[in-house]
Amino acid sequence: MVRYNDIDMNNWKEYIDIETDSLWIIDKRDNSGAHSGYYHGNFVPQIPFQLLSRYTKKGDWVLDPFMGSGTTLIEAQRMRRNSIGIEIQKDVAKEALSRIRKENNPDCSAKVCVGDSAKLNFDALYESLGIKNVQFVIMHPPYWDIIKFSDNPKDLSNTATLDDFLNSFGELIDNTTKHLEKNRYCAVVVGDKYANSQVIPLGFYCMNLFLEKGFLLKAILVKNFGDTKGKANKQGIWRYRALASDFYIFKHEYIFVFKKTK
Ligand SMILES: C[S@@+](CC[C@H](N)C(=O)[O-])C[C@H]1O[C@@H](n2cnc3c(N)ncnc32)[C@H](O)[C@@H]1O
Repeated sequence: MVRYNDIDMNNWKEYIDIETDSLWIIDKRDNSGAHSGYYHGNFVPQIPFQLLSRYTKKGDWVLDPFMGSGTTLIEAQRMRRNSIGIEIQKDVAKEALSRIRKENNPDCSAKVCVGDSAKLNFDALYESLGIKNVQFVIMHPPYWDIIKFSDNPKDLSNTATLDDFLNSFGELIDNTTKHLEKNRYCAVVVGDKYANSQVIPLGFYCMNLFLEKGFLLKAILVKNFGDTKGKANKQGIWRYRALASDFYIFKHEYIFVFKKTK
């Protein structure tokens, strides 16, 4: 069997910090080093840490097509994985790069590109890096239009309808997983949304896109989250609204893990 991580099963009891359960309760964000929660819509560094620990080895290449503030690339540098981040917003990419450089690791490289991940020419990019494929893809797309990241019409958060969002995301999945090595993994971090008095199960719609494309579903992980910036200091109002009505306040998101076998 091809090895896809560095876990030494002779010492399996020592890996106490690596999750094996499907429920991830992460109470505190890792804000060490270059990590910082400044970017609205970032994920906690513990997510890439856990996924890279389970699904990659030192020296592997990791692609994050929704780089944002560069959380994945910072964590990859720390873990001696090579990484590539694509971000549609130039200013956001520039700020991320300056933070990623603070965690510079001579044993691996981190490449940042500005562009639309659905259209980017990965053949040319990988050729310039001297690689043929990547060993892991981690995706943290906009949860449709919950946060508007930019005015760029190619930004997935600007898609007009749910179908538009899923079509654009589907195109982006094809383009970014084309060069994912066979028998390696891809993870998607995504949450649901509420609109017109009903839950839109965005997470499961995204999961279905991967299933339709022939990926094997290896995990559905549920991760807690605290108050989002939009709901901070408004817990009372939201609890009142929920009690007075028929909905629950979202406190979880999903991490889906897929294996590419074709
Ligand atoms: C949920 S955030 C990712 C945050 C990131 N995980 C972090 O920790 O900072 C999604 C990011 O995807 C970017 N984005 C949206 N559509 C994109 C596209 N088509 N190509 C590349 N980036 C895109 C947005 O600008 C935003 O920064």
